[in-house]
Amino acid sequence: MKIIVTGGAGFIGSNFIFYMLEKYPEYNIICIDKLTYAGNLSTLKSVINNPKFRFIKADICDRGTIDKVFEEVQPDIVVNFAAESHVDRSIEDPGIFLKTNIWGTSTLMDACLRFGIKRYHQVSTDEVYGDLPLDRPDLFFTEETPLHTSSPYSSSKAGADLLVLAYYRTYGLQVTISRCSNNYGPYHFPEKLIPLMIVNALNNKFLPVYGNGNNVRDWLYVEDHCKAIDIILHQGKIGEVYNIGGHNEMRNIDIVKLICKELGKTESLITYVTDRKGHDMRYAIDPKKIHNELGWLPETRFTEGIKKTIKWYLENREWWEDILSGEYQNYYKKMYKNK
Ligand code: NAD
Ligand code: DAU
Repeated sequence: MKIIVTGGAGFIGSNFIFYMLEKYPEYNIICIDKLTYAGNLSTLKSVINNPKFRFIKADICDRGTIDKVFEEVQPDIVVNFAAESHVDRSIEDPGIFLKTNIWGTSTLMDACLRFGIKRYHQVSTDEVYGDLPLDRPDLFFTEETPLHTSSPYSSSKAGADLLVLAYYRTYGLQVTISRCSNNYGPYHFPEKLIPLMIVNALNNKFLPVYGNGNNVRDWLYVEDHCKAIDIILHQGKIGEVYNIGGHNEMRNIDIVKLICKELGKTESLITYVTDRKGHDMRYAIDPKKIHNELGWLPETRFTEGIKKTIKWYLENREWWEDILSGEYQNYYKKMYKNK
């Protein structure tokens, strides 16, 4: 079995590669990644010399290169994690989101059709459903919930999902889509809530909470997401969408306070700052379909997962200090200076 994993130098893609190489030592995993600011080759250093792993630096929008790679590798499966993934960046500069997330997806699927690749999996997000009100805890996103996006990021992901379903219906490409809730765990880029709060707290820097901190996200440990994708690849029904989430809704402010407590830091570091534009209030996945049809259930409780995550950041300072020392400083100043 040969699997092309795009975006494998990023957060979830790298965790997926580690999981698959460990679980299926006979599989060949080929990672395609452009190494944008979010991709880090050092993340893959534990597998880079594994004979079953190969890294190819390439842009999923570059048709010529993607075609060459597909022709040479002839993968059985393509799993597309590659994306611009940060909502705040999409609000600043939507164009690259449209390019990578929509054009990149169609480029990959065109290559699948051209070279007769049997299976394409699109890693999507619960953000395509928009948000839910805080005062209706009975409401959840199901696979039937209409797409109703808020940010350029989520709109680009929804556009990609529609294209994937169109390639299934029009060209018969054998596709599946997964829509997962917020992930957390090792190798999470420190622009996202949990890793940003951990590294800022460790550096005794202010902890910027958007708005009143009451927004709710539905957190899933990254390995549980990887396990769900593995199950979809092996047992999922072609043409179907699967929601992935573990009923673990938490308010942002409670997460930040928990991180302070775990690290023994004062809550006085918490600073309420200007809200994100168009900020989604609540995400909450109904995972009944993947549970009932494919038997997937999350295995890591949040109390355990957040401890493991904090421990990872404490033990892997070099990984994130290296990121913080580069272009990240400009990003941080630009995004947080006037908040
Ligand atoms: P990430 O930003 O950490 O990683 C993205 C990776 O894609 C990076 O390695 C980057 O270099 C690569 N990439 C970007 N543009 C590329 C291009 N044009 N060609 C090749 N590679 C390119 O993202 P993540 O958090 O790991 O998310 C992975 C996928 O999962 C995304 O599609 C995202 O929409 C989806 N998702 C993320 C979450 C989450 O909580 N992080 C939840 C649900 C779904
Ligand atoms: O739901 C899945 C999505 O989760 C993925 O599709 C996205 O790729 C991923 O980035 C994530 O999107 P969010 O916008 O939910 O994640 P983020 O970590 O950026 O923010 C989580 C919440 O925390 C959100 O309500 C905004 C808030 N926040 C974020 C940052 C970076 C703050 O209050 N302060 C911050 O500094």
